[in-house]
Amino acid sequence: KAHKVTLIPGDGIGPEVTEAVVRILETTGIKFEWERFAAGAEAFEKHKEYIPKELYESIERNKLALKGPVTTPVGGGFPSINVTLRKKFELYANFRPIKNLPGLETRYPNVDLVIIRENTEDLYVGLEHEVVPGVVESLKVITAKASTRIAQFAFDYARKANRKKIHAIHKANIMKLSDGLFLKCAREVAKGFPEITYGEHIVDNTCMQLVMNPYQYDMLLLGNLYGDIVSDLCAAFVGGLGLVPGANLGVETAIFEAVHGSAPDIAGKDIANPTALLQSAVLMLRHIDEEEAADKVQEALEKVYTEKKTLTRDVGGSSGTKAFADAVVKAIEEA
Ligand code: NAI
Ligand code: MG
Repeated sequence: KAHKVTLIPGDGIGPEVTEAVVRILETTGIKFEWERFAAGAEAFEKHKEYIPKELYESIERNKLALKGPVTTPVGGGFPSINVTLRKKFELYANFRPIKNLPGLETRYPNVDLVIIRENTEDLYVGLEHEVVPGVVESLKVITAKASTRIAQFAFDYARKANRKKIHAIHKANIMKLSDGLFLKCAREVAKGFPEITYGEHIVDNTCMQLVMNPYQYDMLLLGNLYGDIVSDLCAAFVGGLGLVPGANLGVETAIFEAVHGSAPDIAGKDIANPTALLQSAVLMLRHIDEEEAADKVQEALEKVYTEKKTLTRDVGGSSGTKAFADAVVKAIEEA
């Protein structure tokens, strides 16, 4: 039986990396039925809607999507498609494992961090208004419900994955009420997990601590904004944004997507690294209990990195997106 997956190729480098990943997944022997949709500016041109109704319905039916990046204009334009989908399907947990790929040397070997980012509120609710010309307000919304839910997710995951330590990252010294509530909820949940060490670090110091010594952390629990920023920082440990996968997880639905954006600077040139989306697809395969296929893809990927012959430019190679995908396909076929 085929797995029905909603597929959002996105824009910028999205279609290139998505095409590569779909091609690789189809060599695993698993059957997929892709329901493909445009979103964002591209969808607006075609359907006069940024998120077409059919796309919502497809995700509602399948409860599973693989998504490329979608450009969000700075300033005016339309609200972020990513934020909208995460809110709409209550994808409250953003799971981002930061782990070195065997074979790829970086300045920080053997990093193994897990970032858990709250995905539905904080400053990303997008409630901004102009009070008077020259003065705007942006609301930071933190609720006990969402803070407790994300802390519970983090600790449940830690227990299941045998992780040892969670640090809640905050700025409660300044934002006493909002980040204060986030911490209060995390502390409360932590009480139920005596075997997991719980700590709290202020976000600016955390950035410095991470760069000095990422090995001091095991799991990071962050609100939406800090989680967004610190994820990109941590991506650098393992080779950059071309590597790091992500999952947006809710009670019913899951959307898998890379941490990176649409990378307009390299779009359409066959140079983007599809590894981040491919590793997101590996998370998706595990989510639907296709462990064997997930291992197959991961092993093939690691083989290509270990051989170092067909890597993309962001990780020091000179191959294109397609050639890299070909190499992974070949490694799967030869396994
Ligand atoms: P970006 O993540 O697209 O790019 C940052 C840098 O990393 C660029 O130099 C880019 O070339 C490089 N990079 C990113 N992915 C890469 C890959 N797979 N292979 C090789 N190099 C890669 O961030 P930027 O430029 O700030 O944002 C561009 C657009 O993407 C914005 O409109 C933003 O709103 C959107 N965005 C969308 C996301 C999503 O759909 N989930 C997430 C983040 C940003
Ligand atoms: Mg981001």
